[in-house]
This record gives sequence, structure tokens and C-alpha cells, in this order.
Amino acid sequence: MPKPLILCVVGTRPEAIKVAPVVQELRRFSHLADTVLVSTGQHREMLTQSLAAFGLAPDEDLEIMQHGQTLAQVTARAIAGLDGLIEKHGPTAVMAQGDTTTTFIAALNSFYRRIPFAHVEAGLRTDTIDNPFPEEFNRRAAGLITSLHFPPTEWAAKNLRHEGKNPDSIYITGNTGIDAVLATGSAAQTKWFEEWPGRILLLTTHRRENWGEPQRQIARAALRLLDEFPDVLLVVPMHKNPQVREVLEGILGNHERARLIEPPDYGDFVPLMRRSTLILSDSGGVQEEAPAFGIPVLVLRETTERPEGCDAGTAKLVGTDENRIYTEAHVLLANEHAYRLMANAVSPYGDGKASARIRYVLLKSLGIESPEVPMWS
Ligand code: UD1
Ligand code: UDP
Repeated sequence: MPKPLILCVVGTRPEAIKVAPVVQELRRFSHLADTVLVSTGQHREMLTQSLAAFGLAPDEDLEIMQHGQTLAQVTARAIAGLDGLIEKHGPTAVMAQGDTTTTFIAALNSFYRRIPFAHVEAGLRTDTIDNPFPEEFNRRAAGLITSLHFPPTEWAAKNLRHEGKNPDSIYITGNTGIDAVLATGSAAQTKWFEEWPGRILLLTTHRRENWGEPQRQIARAALRLLDEFPDVLLVVPMHKNPQVREVLEGILGNHERARLIEPPDYGDFVPLMRRSTLILSDSGGVQEEAPAFGIPVLVLRETTERPEGCDAGTAKLVGTDENRIYTEAHVLLANEHAYRLMANAVSPYGDGKASARIRYVLLKSLGIESPEVPMWS
């Protein structure tokens, strides 16, 4: 039997971080299967720096990113480019993660070429097709044509079962993002933010449905919190999207205790999260990582496909209304008891072995035995 080849497709920062541990794991078994890491290049600097944090670089890069790119442009460029790479490499299986346009395109290309598609972080759902936009559509569409579903949690697996997916195609693995965060130790070098004597409030926001007025409200709430708490330093790693930066810089740019910074590498961002007292974020990945360290997160969104952190009490969905964000954060910064109740280190999203489970199931589906890891529950 010729050696199978698995095409692993990434396009954006979170995919890079969550697929990197799987690629590393598959490469430990390179005597059994080959792995080609493909980037659509939907993101540029943010993708490169995220892969580099794991000592990886794409084997193929479609370099499709353009400033101000529309969803249709990303879709069209990725679908044509990826088809060429599938033709060139003739993979036995294709794997992608999550809910970006790159993920959707990887699934669709596999379907057109009748190649099994493995979906990492499958089964996350809200009950609204356009929130988050366009991610809810992307992951549902990818799920329609997936051969192997790798939901991170029982809740995600249940969503897939309710949709009538074949139970034999569903494997609960934990989230590979937890593999990544647990493997990222605290850096040896002291970082600038560790020298700040007071508390750190960390803010990240980039979601498409928050562009414009919701993001202005988020920024204004953060500004009011800075004025209220003189010991607080606000750190804002800014997503590279110029639309997002314009709003953040306009409202927060002049405050002496606001640090609007370039997105740190993953190896720097993880210690920054750990050093923070409170995180305000609309990021999916940050919502999953912070509970592992017991850092409370206020989720700046109207819906979440990650209820586990809220159920565990370490995350809270607060939406994007300025007053609501200010009030919720104020309680946590002013009231020690309320803070303690939220600051529990729980890891509802995984135990650090998701990639090994995926490697085992994926290789087995291709007729190859490798060391088994019991599924996560
Ligand atoms: C994308 C994903 C979103 C994911 C997010 C993670 C889609 C539709 N959206 O959203 O699900 O949560 O990535 O961050 O798939 N840019 C750069 N350099 C970079 C990256 C982005 O300059 O390295 C700028 C470019 O101007 C680009 C813009 O950001 O046009 C938007 O990038 P895009 O991938 O279209 O959307 P995101 O909002 O990043
Ligand atoms: N992250 C990072 N540097 C930053 C901000 C985030 O390395 O400046 C990491 C973060 O730890 C998480 C991932 O990027 O693993 C989340 O990416 P993002 O918020 O862009 O996307 P989402 O998870 O919302 O799709």
C-alpha cells in the first residue's frame, strides 16, 4: 500500500495555532503517513507568526490575502488555488479546523474531488445562521460533507448527533487549542508587561459582526474602566484588520495607560493572558484558553458556540453594549468576592491530548494502526 498523504489546510491565525499541534503529532508518525501543510494565506503576518511559534512553515502557500478583501474574493481565490494543490499532491485525506472561509473551502474542494474530509473542532453551533457571521454557515456547511468529525466536547458532539450525522464518524477529542496552550510554557525572558506593578486588563476584538458601532461601544467601555481604576493597564493586541485598528486607535489611542500593540506572537500572548487580571474578548480561541489558567473572560458577543466556559463559571457572555460591559467588568475589578467566584482554573475544552486522538483516528480510518489514546469526555 502506498504511504497515505494528509493535506492539512490553514488560512488564519486561530487555524494555525490549533492545527500546528496536529501537524506536529502526525509528523511524529511520518514513517506511516506524509503530511503536507498548506496555507491559503487568507491571513499573512498573523499566520506566519503563529506557525513559527511551533517551528512550522507552510509547505505550500497560496498567498491570497489582500487588504479590504471581501468574503467572495477570499472564497474565489482559495477555491481555485486549493484545487490546484489537491491536483498536485493527490492527498488521501484533507484536514482543516474550525469555521473560517478557508475551512469551508477546504471541505468543499475535498467534496468536489471526492476525498475524505476530516473536520477538527467540529460541532460548534449557535442557533443563528448569521451569527457569528459568516462562521456559523462555514462550519455547518463543512459539517455536511465531513467524513470524520472531531468535536472538542460532548456538547459539540451532541449537536452533530442531533443533525443526524453518523455516530460512527464522531470522535470527541478535546480542543487542539488546549494542546497548544499547555505546550506553551512561560517564557524565560521577562516581558515588558510583567514589570507593570498593577493589574492588567486585556482586550481583544476582531469579529466581523462587531465591526463599527459595537466595537466603538467596547472601546468606550474600556476607556471608562481605565478612568475608574488607576492601577489598571489596558493592553490591546490589535488585529491587523485596518477597520478594527481605526476604531481602537481613535478611542483609546491617547490614554496614558492604554497600550495598543501589534499582535504578540503566540509565545508572548500566552504569558500576557496569564498575567492579566481580566480579559475582555470576542475571540473564540481566547475564550477557550483563559479558563485553563483561571482568568475570567467577559465575552463581547451576543451569542456563543462555546457555552462550556460560561457553564463552568469562568466566562460570561456580556454582549457589546457599553454600559453592560462597563458594569460587568466594574464588578469584577472592584469586588474581590465576585472576582474569586469567577477565577477558577477549569479546562472544559480539553486535556492536551486532542492531537494524539485525532492522529490515532485519522490514521486508523486510512487503515493504519498507531498508538491509541482513549477518547475525551
Ligand atoms: C478571519 C476569519 C474569522 C477568524 C479570524 C481570526 C473568515 C470569514 N473570518 O477574520 O473567522 O475569527 O480570521 O483572526 O474566515 N490582515 C492583515 N494581516 C494578517 C491578517 C489580516 O493585514 O495577517 C488584514 C487584511 O487587511 C485583511 C483583513 O485583515 O483583508 C481581514 O482578514 P480576513 O481573514 O478577511 O478576516 P478576519 O476578520 O481576520
Ligand atoms: N492570539 C495571539 N496573539 C494575539 C491575539 C491572539 O497569538 O495578539 C491567539 C490566541 O491565544 C488564540 C488565537 O490567537 O489562540 C485566537 O485568534 P483570533 O482571536 O484571531 O481568532 P478566533 O479564535 O476568534 O477565531
